This record gives sequence, C-alpha cells and structure tokens, in this order.
Amino acid sequence: MTYLVTGGAGFIGSHVVDTLLRRGEQVVCVDNFTSYYDPGRKRRNLEWALSQPGFTLAEADIRDAEALGAIFAAHRPRRVAHLAAMPGPRPSIANPTLYEQVNVGGTVHMLELARRHAIESLVLASTSSVYGKTEKLPFVENDPTDRPLSPYAATKKAAEVLAYTFHSLYGTPTAVVRFFTVYGPRGRPDMTPYLFVERMVRGEPFVLFDGGVNLFRDYTYVDDIVAGVVAALDRPRPYEIYNLGNSQPVEMRHFVALLERITGLRALVEARPLPATEPPITFASTEKAGRLLGFESSIAIDEGLARFWAWYRAEILTGGSSR
Ligand SMILES: NC(=O)c1ccc[n+]([C@@H]2O[C@H](COP(=O)([O-])OP(=O)(O)OC[C@H]3O[C@@H](n4cnc5c(N)ncnc54)[C@H](O)[C@@H]3O)[C@@H](O)[C@H]2O)c1
Repeated sequence: MTYLVTGGAGFIGSHVVDTLLRRGEQVVCVDNFTSYYDPGRKRRNLEWALSQPGFTLAEADIRDAEALGAIFAAHRPRRVAHLAAMPGPRPSIANPTLYEQVNVGGTVHMLELARRHAIESLVLASTSSVYGKTEKLPFVENDPTDRPLSPYAATKKAAEVLAYTFHSLYGTPTAVVRFFTVYGPRGRPDMTPYLFVERMVRGEPFVLFDGGVNLFRDYTYVDDIVAGVVAALDRPRPYEIYNLGNSQPVEMRHFVALLERITGLRALVEARPLPATEPPITFASTEKAGRLLGFESSIAIDEGLARFWAWYRAEILTGGSSR
C-alpha cells in the first residue's frame, strides 16, 4: 500500500514515515525543508528512510498545486497523512499571511487531490491550540473551538472546517487529529524540552512563563502520537476529530524540576508573564481516540524525558545521526 506523508521530514512526520516503512509500506514524503528551523536537521531525520527501497522523497511545497498534482499522479497514494504546516502559535503573529497560505491554502490543495484520487483514508494534523483558553477540563472534541488565541491556531481550525466541507461534498474519509504538546527524539528546537535543555547545557537562562506556576501542559511522547496517527490511517471512518494527548497535564515548574533531575543540570529561569497566545492549561480527553482507534498513551513524562535526554546527548551533544 502506498502512503503519502506531507511534512514527512519534520519531527512528527519523520517518525510516521519510519513507522510505516518498518511495517513494509511504500512511503512518499512531501516536504519543502522550510527554514523555520535548520533544514539540515530535517535531512538527518530522513537518513534511515532514504536507505529504504520503499521510500521516495518528493521535495515540493504544498502551496504549489501543480507540483502536488504531479506527485499524486506519479505515485497514486491510497492513504494520506497531511502533517506539513507552519507550526508554533507565537511566531505566527509576525507572519499570519504565510501561516494562512501554508496551513489553509496548502490544506485545500491536499483536500482537492484527496478527493480527485478517491483517497481511502486522510489524516490531518491539528492542535490542542484550537481549544484556546477554556476552564472546561479535560478538553473534549466537541467543545467550542471558535476562540483561537493565535493566527496559527486559527489556521488549524480553518483547515479542520474545510476538511469537513470536503468530506461532506465528496465523502473523503477524514480524521482530524489534535496533537497535545509533542516531545521526544528529533523534537523541534523551538519547543520544550529541547529549548530548555539546550539552555541548561550552555548554562544560559530561559524564559518560563509565570515562573511555571499554574501553567500546565499535557506533554505527549512522540511514539504515542505516531501510534495514534497510524491507527487513524488504518481505521478510516467518514469524518472524525480525535484528541491525541497524554491526559496528564504537568505543571511547568515541575517539568523544569524533572529536567534538572534527569539531566543533572541547573535551570536558570527567567519568569515573564504568559503571552496572550498561550492558554494556562492543555488537557486532553482521549476517551474517543481510545474507543475508536484503540489509542492509549503509554509513556509517562519522566520516562519520556529520560528518553529525550538520552537522544539529545547521543545525537546533539556528540553529533551522531538522528535515529
Ligand atoms: N509538535 C507539536 O507539539 C505539535 C502540536 C500540535 C500540532 N502539531 C502539528 O503537527 C504537524 C507536525 O509538526 P512538527 O512538530 O513535526 O513540526 P515540523 O516543523 O518539525 O514539521 C513540519 C514539516 O512540514 C514541512 N513544511 C512546512 N511548510 C511546508 C510547505 N509549504 N510545503 C511542504 N512542506 C512544508 C517542514 O519543512 C517540516 O519538515 C504540524 O501540522 C503541526 O502544526 C504539532
């Protein structure tokens, strides 16, 4: 079976690619190696995949409908995981047009091709950010999501809604998967824990919003997220939205203390007020993903951070490959 993964060179996408290749699938990765962070890291993410006979790298921009059309025509994928995006709520403030063009415009191109090629399973990456600031916990898929706090979150919500419209018009089996703060090997350098650990290694301070007090994030280990994405690809339904999270929000000051314990390094914290783009808590209900996808978050935060630190030491501090 041929799978197409957009954003397949990125943090989460490269793990999805490797997982599909390991089970013997043909995988086409679409990525434009955007410079949001070092494209060299993304190349390293694909080192193993590139050695596999079932793998094809198609360098293309999802804003280019013609290029995407040619890739679909050449490879005829049956299942598609659309993960390519401009990520990050805070950077989206400076460049909302780019976020709209990639996350909304690019997604429309994918939806159009998915229906033209009668794709049997389409999975779209969305985010816990669509829930905005809410006091209703945990977040359930049918909670209101019409008050996003950043252009990034708004573009992700727009993509979800467009996916519903395309499903309703053309019947494309579609799963929207809302990821909750993903971390692990190959983690994005602009995200925690990577950012914090990098500063701790250098003995430099880093910003912790509100000093990490009453600020909670539902950190989810990347292997759990990938298992959820693959389950959604494997079990198409007409149109569903799923939270993929750990359902155990961690208070950020405990998160930093845990990092200090695991790394043996000291954190120099600079407290600053929480920006308007950030909700005080994220907390996934995964009851629906458990029931319909068999999803189960299996890696606790201390275990996940220890694995992240082992990867960081081996691959970043001593410069191995990124596997
Ligand atoms: N990491 C998280 O905690 C998190 C949380 C919620 C949602 N998400 C979503 O998950 C998906 C993957 O995120 P990630 O953390 O792996 O980020 P990432 O930046 O590592 O991966 C995204 C990939 O998309 C590619 N890309 C960007 N613009 C493109 C374009 N115009 N054409 C082709 N490729 C393009 C990038 O080069 C990159 O390789 C994104 O849709 C993101 O919004 C991530």
